[in-house]
Amino acid sequence: MHDAILTTRNLTRHFGALRAVDDVSLAVRGGAITGLIGPNGAGKSTLFGLIAGEVRPSSGEIVFAGRPIAGMRPDRIFRAGLARTFQIPRPFPQMTVLENLMLAPAAQSGERFWNNWFRPSLVREEERRWRERAMEVLGFTGLAAKAREPAGALSGGQQKLLELARVMMEEPRLILLDEPAAGVNPALLETLIEKIAALNARGIGFLIVEHNMDMMMRICGAILVMAQGRLIFSGSPRDVLREQSVVDAYLGDVTELAL
Ligand SMILES: Nc1ncnc2c1ncn2[C@@H]1O[C@H](COP(=O)(O)OP(=O)(O)O)[C@@H](O)[C@H]1O
Ligand SMILES: [Mg+2]
Repeated sequence: MHDAILTTRNLTRHFGALRAVDDVSLAVRGGAITGLIGPNGAGKSTLFGLIAGEVRPSSGEIVFAGRPIAGMRPDRIFRAGLARTFQIPRPFPQMTVLENLMLAPAAQSGERFWNNWFRPSLVREEERRWRERAMEVLGFTGLAAKAREPAGALSGGQQKLLELARVMMEEPRLILLDEPAAGVNPALLETLIEKIAALNARGIGFLIVEHNMDMMMRICGAILVMAQGRLIFSGSPRDVLREQSVVDAYLGDVTELAL
């Protein structure tokens, strides 16, 4: 696919004898919302880990925005514009919501020891800019009122929004969301969907793992299906519903699916 922002070729990751991700070649279109579905244990989170640089590939290639990124460090991939959220949010619970966001930018010059000694004004200036960015992002996600509360006091759904806020501290071109709707109440889920749509309207692409098929049918332009480590199908949401192999591998288990 020539307008793909992300492609993998023959991507494989073993854990001992298990092929968690098995020879996966896929393409994700830039600026689009793409879904990734499949039963538990299919390898979806491992695939995200491979793409985001947290899990090393056993073999295969990953290309993001024209650059090979397989084996690259996660912070470099993040700065290249590819961000991910986690299935289980991982904030620092005792730190405030704002402080959690201030940690996000790994590239902050305050982290470089010498800058603290020789260029304190630069560090202060950057901190001020990051604080502004953090407040903007909190405003967008509807968490501004929670800025000074410990992140651990947020509800499950608010923690998912904090995850989204965290990855927005940089200007990502593609965001990987791992089960964003899991454990989120219906009202907050609508907010989350609105935020995803608003970011997408600004040109930010998404690759979303989610079991909520209702949500996936609503927002995804294309859907990829994995089972037992393999990519078994890709197509439009309608095609996916009609594909017998997908129904057999996964959709047969998903209850209350309105066909
Ligand atoms: N770090 C790991 N070590 C060993 N096995 C793992 C590891 N991570 C994932 N797996 C295994 O890989 C398979 C795919 O897991 P996962 O990628 O989490 O699937 P999904 O997200 O689709 O539910 C599962 O069988 C899981 O137990
Ligand atoms: Mg998973």
